Amino acid sequence: MDSAGKRDLHIQHHHAAQHFPENHEVLKPFLKWAGGKRRLLPKFQELYPRELKNHKIKNYFEPFLGSGAVFFHIAQNYKIDNAYLYDINEELIIAYRVVQKDVYKLITELEKYEKSYLKLNRSERSTYYYGLRWKFNRQRHYMDFNTYSEKWIRRAAQLIFLNKTCYNGLYRVNSYGDFNTAAGDYNNPKICDPENLIKVSRYLQMAEIKKSSFDLLENHVKHNSFVYFDPPYRPLSKSSCFTAYSSARFDDTEQIRLSNVFNRLHDKGIRLMLSNSDPKNSDPDDDFFDDLYSGFNIHRVPVPRFINSNAEKRGCVSEIIITNYKHIA
Ligand SMILES: C[S@@+](CC[C@H](N)C(=O)[O-])C[C@H]1O[C@@H](n2cnc3c(N)ncnc32)[C@H](O)[C@@H]1O
Repeated sequence: MDSAGKRDLHIQHHHAAQHFPENHEVLKPFLKWAGGKRRLLPKFQELYPRELKNHKIKNYFEPFLGSGAVFFHIAQNYKIDNAYLYDINEELIIAYRVVQKDVYKLITELEKYEKSYLKLNRSERSTYYYGLRWKFNRQRHYMDFNTYSEKWIRRAAQLIFLNKTCYNGLYRVNSYGDFNTAAGDYNNPKICDPENLIKVSRYLQMAEIKKSSFDLLENHVKHNSFVYFDPPYRPLSKSSCFTAYSSARFDDTEQIRLSNVFNRLHDKGIRLMLSNSDPKNSDPDDDFFDDLYSGFNIHRVPVPRFINSNAEKRGCVSEIIITNYKHIA
């Protein structure tokens, strides 16, 4: 970080807002994704840079896209010209590209799945789910993930179907890269939501969407940009390693590499925001992020977490949000 940009460390405690204003719900992510940020949006809204609010920021970058909750929030509440949406998960990127380019064909496919699935009884649904999961995993070996084709449309429909009918909407793969989440047990899952998909598709027209690792981001970021980083959580404890998104690990070395990207973009004058779990939830002496991002603004926000299987630890933990700009309340 350049010395001019350094400022005192501000650790601020905030109370997460309990309710969303209605407009937050207009455009919804079309996938459920671990680490989804919908509950934090009211807090984020307070912390977005002023230049986003007064239209000086034209370009929005989200290099850890997931369900895109923050992009959808920004796109419908502020005036940005371009969005650059990246993630390392190629299945996720296929789904976004198809929603962007071929939403009506996708809806037709999804409606077929919905019709076939909803009329089945419980055990038939389970068989249907595992059959489709098996096909999805087998076909992965024959997919060209680099070139858009009609095959992508069916693939995206399968991913959305699995996401809406699997246990907890969790995308998890094993070490071979096979999707392995068990079947869920919802009475009436909304597999196809045409109205939302069409709206999402409209907003995605402004976006460049591609598979990319965060380290390739720097070359693309231009002036008048805002970047929001939502990397995989640093596990709250060493035993609760939660690597749901891909077979690649995101360990402390990656977190450090990311902080280097953050520092270099800061030196170029780019507005930056990053969130992660607060290691102090499990060890008050753990200064990992305080050290990595010393000199930036570190906000600690209480948020309910549901991924901990230990009920006692489930309550309210805090999340950290780091920004490199002054903001006004
Ligand atoms: C915490 S999630 C993002 C959640 C998102 N903000 C939301 O609201 O749903 C982290 C994302 O980072 C992606 N990811 C993991 N390693 C990555 C890497 N090296 N480069 C880019 N994306 C990566 C995962 O595929 C996952 O979608």
